[in-house]
Amino acid sequence: MALLIDGIGELTTNDDELGRVADAAVVVEGERIAWVGPASRAPAADERFDAAGRAALPGWVDSHVHPVFAGDRSAEFEARMAGQAYAAGGIATTVDATRAASDAELAATLDRLADEALAGGTTALEAKTGYGLTIDDEVRSARVARGRAEAVTFLGAHLVPEGWDADAYVEHVAGPMLDAVAPLVDAIDVFCERGAFDEAQSRRVLEAGAAKGLALRVHGNQLGPGPGVRLAVELGARSVDHVAFLDDEEVAALAGSWAAGIGTVATVLPACDLSTRMPLAPARRLLDAGAVVAIATNCNPGTSYTTSMAFCVATAVLQMGLTVEEAVRAATLGGAIALGRDGEDADGRPPLGRIRPGARADLQLLEAPSAAHLAYRPGVPLVGAVWRRGERVR
Ligand code: NIG
Repeated sequence: MALLIDGIGELTTNDDELGRVADAAVVVEGERIAWVGPASRAPAADERFDAAGRAALPGWVDSHVHPVFAGDRSAEFEARMAGQAYAAGGIATTVDATRAASDAELAATLDRLADEALAGGTTALEAKTGYGLTIDDEVRSARVARGRAEAVTFLGAHLVPEGWDADAYVEHVAGPMLDAVAPLVDAIDVFCERGAFDEAQSRRVLEAGAAKGLALRVHGNQLGPGPGVRLAVELGARSVDHVAFLDDEEVAALAGSWAAGIGTVATVLPACDLSTRMPLAPARRLLDAGAVVAIATNCNPGTSYTTSMAFCVATAVLQMGLTVEEAVRAATLGGAIALGRDGEDADGRPPLGRIRPGARADLQLLEAPSAAHLAYRPGVPLVGAVWRRGERVR
């Protein structure tokens, strides 16, 4: 069964040859894109959907999400807006609530957030553990995330839980906790920051994850300068996320990491920067230097309680100096690269983040003639239709 979507006023493909196509059509067969080009040359199909001049682009790929949690931290947010600084210690509040919640409650929250994200055009999202911080609670967090998220990341090294010596906890994470969680996850992450884990501790966790065959991610340079970016590049992490405090050498290291074709994505989290009243990550500088940038929501109850990639894209354009095209690319293809899903993967799963033949048929149609409206009309819900794996889901 082939579906022809035609009458697309402006199609963003993220494909270097196809580029942006005006008056475009897309043919979807099964879960993949079968054909892309000008509507005038579109092949016949079994079904037709008329986009009526609206803009289409790939579904958002949200590559940094903490959706396995319980509890509410709106009081902490209000205090922050009244002038209190963000401190990593707030994570412990969510850890207590998450440990007390049932699996069904955690799953219901994740389902609610994933539905909300999908309605906003997000067709793939990552899910991190990291609010359990015991072997049992990290395992059940990973189980809840598996099957609900596109990729699952183990973040046992999110914070040193109460009652632990930091180095002993690191050994626990890199040893028995990792042994128990590794079969359920795709990647390992560490919060490398003052108040969380230092360079040596972060290295220990990441190297243990790499030895298990997991992809590496790092939370780095969020609250101040630190070793996160350098460590991520040195160890070949897929991404280093937050990156709000970067010196010129770190920017150059991120850009230079792509010299051999594979490197470390700099993931910026605009909603988090705003919600913590931190400086916005220097996405413009990163792109100008040649780094690969992703934009993600960092949805979590502490620092960024939003699933809206459109909000993040609008912020990146209006306040970080990106063009609309750069921001859309970072929020789609950038996220796919950060998740290692921009090509066909070893399990034969189709690529994400592009609209071209062979890619997964994940598309969103805007109630607008061009993607520029995402920033031109900030805050307006523009998503009119969404297809995921070739199926209309909205
Ligand atoms: O990415 N930085 C560490 N982790 C989360 C914050 C989590 C929290 O405060 O609950 C983040 O911002």
